[in-house]
Amino acid sequence: MTAHDQELRRRAYEEVEKKEPIANSDPHRQHFHIMPPVGLLNDPNGVIYWKGSYHVFFQWQPFQTGHGAKFWGHYTTQDVVNWKREEIALAPSDWFDKNGCYSGSAVTKDDRLYLFYTGNVRDQDGNRETYQCLAVSDDGLSFEKKGVVARLPEGYTAHFRDPKVWEHEGTWYMVIGAQTENLKGQAVLFASDNLSEWRFLGPITGAGFNGLDDFGYMWECPDLFSLQGSDVLIVSPQGLEADGFRYQNVYQSGYFVGRLDYNKPELKHGEFTELDQGFDFYAPQTLEDDQGRRILFAWMAVPDQDEGSHPTIDYHWIHCMTLPRQLTLSGQKLIQQPLPELKAMRRNEKKIHINMHGSSGTLPVEKPERAEILLEDIHTESGFSISIRGTATFSFHKDEGIVTLERKSFDGKRTEARHCRIKDLHTVHMFLDASSVEIFINNGEEVFSARYFPFPGNHEVTASSTGKSEMNVGIWTLM
Ligand code: FRU
Repeated sequence: MTAHDQELRRRAYEEVEKKEPIANSDPHRQHFHIMPPVGLLNDPNGVIYWKGSYHVFFQWQPFQTGHGAKFWGHYTTQDVVNWKREEIALAPSDWFDKNGCYSGSAVTKDDRLYLFYTGNVRDQDGNRETYQCLAVSDDGLSFEKKGVVARLPEGYTAHFRDPKVWEHEGTWYMVIGAQTENLKGQAVLFASDNLSEWRFLGPITGAGFNGLDDFGYMWECPDLFSLQGSDVLIVSPQGLEADGFRYQNVYQSGYFVGRLDYNKPELKHGEFTELDQGFDFYAPQTLEDDQGRRILFAWMAVPDQDEGSHPTIDYHWIHCMTLPRQLTLSGQKLIQQPLPELKAMRRNEKKIHINMHGSSGTLPVEKPERAEILLEDIHTESGFSISIRGTATFSFHKDEGIVTLERKSFDGKRTEARHCRIKDLHTVHMFLDASSVEIFINNGEEVFSARYFPFPGNHEVTASSTGKSEMNVGIWTLM
């Protein structure tokens, strides 16, 4: 480790020491989501299950609640509930990553952990350069940088980043999010036999493929994996136009299901489907654990969307991750379910039956700033709604077949809404943290994720229905 690296780490820890007590005094500080100790968190990076622990690294700006030269922060857990903050994994201290150790991934080989990330560099004139870099560890906690392993190929701009690596039939592959010289988004592939020398194989989808000539000007954070016999590419395209209920956020995150022909190489696939219907979801990344489960973590935010009006910035922190979700495929659709391990947080169980007829009532949610609410066996004539702490409302409109999440905008001036269509509604599963809601519909058929900033004194959760609605309700405090 260079002296400059040590100096950056020392300064980052100093920030944590100085400002973390202030961050922790924020009434909107989360209880069971991954957040930065101080500063800004964005993408999950290097998510991996290794030697009995889940590792989640994250894009971290320790010095301010804005972006800039990112570090890799690091959390580990054995049970997906109790997370431990580890030492800084990577600091932007070298010529090849001096303006940010940007997003990337982890793999293991011969009992060592390999991190691949993008070194973001600005030259003297402010022009962007990009390098795909490697760092290696024996213990999964401290990492030795090995420098640049792949350079920018011809035909692309320096918006070329976020390597995700995996092994297939004895060869290593790396998918990267790219922008062509014509300013179009693509996913491109590299291959390697030893993880240190990489050869460029070319684009696998995006502009020029699968009818996607006009599908965004940049694709960020690709993740490619096989699931139940299909290949799934998750990606975060930038530059899609809003289209009905779709693509309502500034940038999107979604997936294609198909088949990767490694020889060509080319990914043949179907339509793009958004992963989340809410306001705040971006740059998801997955791992496969020892039970063969495909687990997804995402950033619960979107770049360039409302950052200035998060009230948490007064407390020197901003953003968090989503809860981990297990992915399964049902036909061409990804189903996302909260990990069963999260049940270990449940306390003070209440089970009630509610029966409304043109009425509304308060749900007995003891601590809605850290609660799980499960609505099951739903039978409703025309729909119903659940209002959460005066700041968010979930509703189902049966005739139109639409579910809606409304929330107060962060500046408090507007109500904003996201919608999606569903055939019928049988279950609604909500996780409420101090400043977020995640709502899983019909056992993971759709999910809405959103930050919200309720008045800390407002603890009201109410259900109301114009016609007749009946359901069984489970309520827990999450500790
Ligand atoms: C996505 C992203 C990545 C980049 C990282 C920088 O949110 O822009 O493309 O690697 O964030 O923090």
